[in-house]
Amino acid sequence: MGNIKIENLLINFKTLEKFKRFREYGNQELTMMEDLENKIIENNSKSPFYGIYIGDNLIARMSLYEVSKKYDFYFEPPQDYLTLWKLEVLPDYQGRGYGKALVDFAKSFGLPIKTNPRINSHGFWEKMDFVKPHYEMERDLGENPLLWLPEGVEEKDTKQ
Ligand code: COA
Repeated sequence: MGNIKIENLLINFKTLEKFKRFREYGNQELTMMEDLENKIIENNSKSPFYGIYIGDNLIARMSLYEVSKKYDFYFEPPQDYLTLWKLEVLPDYQGRGYGKALVDFAKSFGLPIKTNPRINSHGFWEKMDFVKPHYEMERDLGENPLLWLPEGVEEKDTKQ
């Protein structure tokens, strides 16, 4: 399983067509498609999406976005961090290490990571060493974030 290649996905009609196979297909993809049609983004521009191809098949993907230190309410010391969302492996390819490979890739930037997992994927995130922060009503309203802390980084203490 050592040879999984993670690619930055280009925004073009071909990639967006492949996204339709994923369950979490929604506003983000539709907006990209609209922007492409309006030529606001160029065919083949870089995207926040990373994925794994097997042959011509996109079988796994995630979105990764760097959030500026200014907006960091999670980590100590405050710093730039990554938000990871839309991690999904197509059903036929689950349980073969592709999800882990994408998460390891995200970790390789050395920045803390925040994700907001689907209800039934907690076991996976636990395996990936993500932890649940202390719940802060105003900050986490409507979210159940999980965090990954690189060495030397701690969860921000929100208790008074
Ligand atoms: N609960 C507990 N452990 C899980 C898990 C889960 N739902 N999914 C995977 N794991 C474990 C694997 O057993 C593996 O452990 P190991 O290293 O000891 O063998 C490790 O996590 C890595 O698994 P991997 O093969 O990389 O997972 P994946 O490629 O299937 O990706 C998801 C994981 C959750 C991203 C993927 O299954 C997915 O997209 N699922 C969509 C639907 C969903 O959310 N399902 C949740 C379960 S119903």
